[in-house]
Amino acid sequence: MTPRLAKKIIVITGGASGIGLGTVEKAVAEGAFVVAGDVQDDKGAALEARFPGKVAYQHCDVTVEADVAALMATAQARFGGLDGLFNNAGVGGVMGPVETTDVGAFKAALDLLVTSVFLGTKHAVPLMAARGGGSIVNTASIAGLQAGWGPLAYSTAKAGVIQFSKVAAAELAVRKIRVNAVCPGLIATAIFGTSLGMPREVADQIAAMLATQGGSIQPAGRAGEPADIAEAVVWLLSDVGSFVTGTHIVVDGGITVGPRHAWDPTAPQPIAEALGLDQAAMAAAIAGSAGS
Ligand SMILES: NC(=O)c1ccc[n+]([C@@H]2O[C@H](COP(=O)([O-])OP(=O)(O)OC[C@H]3O[C@@H](n4cnc5c(N)ncnc54)[C@H](O)[C@@H]3O)[C@@H](O)[C@H]2O)c1
Repeated sequence: MTPRLAKKIIVITGGASGIGLGTVEKAVAEGAFVVAGDVQDDKGAALEARFPGKVAYQHCDVTVEADVAALMATAQARFGGLDGLFNNAGVGGVMGPVETTDVGAFKAALDLLVTSVFLGTKHAVPLMAARGGGSIVNTASIAGLQAGWGPLAYSTAKAGVIQFSKVAAAELAVRKIRVNAVCPGLIATAIFGTSLGMPREVADQIAAMLATQGGSIQPAGRAGEPADIAEAVVWLLSDVGSFVTGTHIVVDGGITVGPRHAWDPTAPQPIAEALGLDQAAMAAAIAGSAGS
């Protein structure tokens, strides 16, 4: 089978860890040349060493326009152009109640999570247009679709990423550049630990724990892995996904299908709880009516 990204040149931000790292690995396996940007330079250097001639790592703080522009320029200088961009770098951002949230911290979260997507797109477009088109994928989140999956600033930013993707897709269609968002569910990465202020090493251990113990969280019955998101991203970056633009793809093991009681037969039924009815009798009644 022909590799899906054969000879394509792809930039990936947040490429040193988690979903970004998983996507670097899958993109290389699918024949791509990758420029990975991140602020974890030790991990980035190790990544470049793992894939000599295939991956170029460069320090890139996605909140700094000059860094983002330089990352795209490296795709041109090292590999000869740019076909795909995965705007993925992110953190959990400021937490806490709205009335005590510092405005600077709120703006910083939006800067890192959504302005970065604008900056990546801005500096990728000329290079992609010069090659006759391209594909941009932006990491949003189920937190951009529903409440309850992330802090206020984070969720607001991720909703912005979804809408940015749609509007940019409309503008850039004429230049043959597709733009889509991917909405991961709960994926076993360091982001949960780093968001709680844990050192990287501890956060990486939390990610490993989630990978082994996160199966009960969603209907799929197993933990979400970076490779699950990478698969969707590679598909969107590849020509196989060429009819898909201006949309978001949810990859979440079914966690947003509905409340827990909809898919977990052991979860309390809220109506039974509210009315003080017997849970087992209610569950049996539901099972009976489902079969009639
Ligand atoms: N893990 C999940 O459950 C989940 C769910 C939905 C969305 N996401 C999103 O996925 C993306 C990747 O996160 P992850 O879960 O892989 O976490 P991660 O912590 O493993 O990876 C995030 C990467 O982004 C990098 N980064 C942070 N700030 C940066 C900056 N200013 N400039 C450049 N790089 C920076 C980090 O160094 C890290 O390598 C984020 O946008 C996150 O919001 C994650």
